[in-house]
Amino acid sequence: MPPQPSNGTRASNSPVPTPFKPSHPFTATDSQIDSQAAIRYWSSIPPTNTGVLGGYPQVSRADLQGSANFLTKLKRKSFHYKNGHRLPRVVDCGAGIGRVTLGFLANVAEVVDIVEPVEQLTKVVTEGEEFTELRERGRVGDIWNVGLEDWVPPDGRKYDLIWNQWCLGQLTDKQLEGYLGKSKRWVRKGGWIVVKENMSTEPRGQDVFDEVDSSVTRADEKFRDIFEKAGLRIVATELQRGMPKEIYPVRCYALQPEAWEEDEVEDEEE
Ligand SMILES: C[S@@+](CC[C@H](N)C(=O)[O-])C[C@H]1O[C@@H](n2cnc3c(N)ncnc32)[C@H](O)[C@@H]1O
Repeated sequence: MPPQPSNGTRASNSPVPTPFKPSHPFTATDSQIDSQAAIRYWSSIPPTNTGVLGGYPQVSRADLQGSANFLTKLKRKSFHYKNGHRLPRVVDCGAGIGRVTLGFLANVAEVVDIVEPVEQLTKVVTEGEEFTELRERGRVGDIWNVGLEDWVPPDGRKYDLIWNQWCLGQLTDKQLEGYLGKSKRWVRKGGWIVVKENMSTEPRGQDVFDEVDSSVTRADEKFRDIFEKAGLRIVATELQRGMPKEIYPVRCYALQPEAWEEDEVEDEEE
């Protein structure tokens, strides 16, 4: 689910915008997700910023800068991490062609792992020239071509940051709750799980199904409900600035387990 217009049309690689079809009132929106159709769509796009950003490559710069600022603020309030020091290990989830890795995560972390189901897209990371230096320096870690609902990192692996951007709409509500619930165990004490996604602007807070990539755009309330069910609390949240007016608002949430193993809590919601 890349950036996309909130008025029911969608810039995709198709020359014809897809009309918005409201869900049937008695059908859970996420029940319309067809993961095979989603993979077919993401396998058919060009492996470029335009492809992964649904025809809005121009938002990448503001997006990456916004993410860097968000992390700086998190680190400023942290007892565990200092600005000016790279995080030891992070993971880019639903990474596509590694746009977020290249433009943001590699600047703030020593090693970036990647989870992305479509191998054609991660070929940009494994073979592309723009990643040569990172690869040669061993700063691209493990790459898993699998959906987040099925991903399990190696035993004992801990991440300082688990970054999920513009991909969680591919999971059903139950899958998302299950994935986030598991990922609590994979975040190092003091680290963060970040969710950066489009927000539904439907008047009654409904989620919206997107038939182009078979994903859902969730409302803020739905995300908060899922985080709570997964045992995560929001330690910071903000809207991405500098996005075109016609696209859905984009919100970042930094999450931590409700209780760390040693029962430690930190930071407050802004
Ligand atoms: C809009 S793109 C975003 C890519 C990247 N996060 C970015 O911001 O540039 C959505 C990505 O989600 C991936 N995706 C599809 N199904 C997924 C799943 N079940 N789990 C994780 N990622 C998935 C797609 O293959 C695609 O690369």
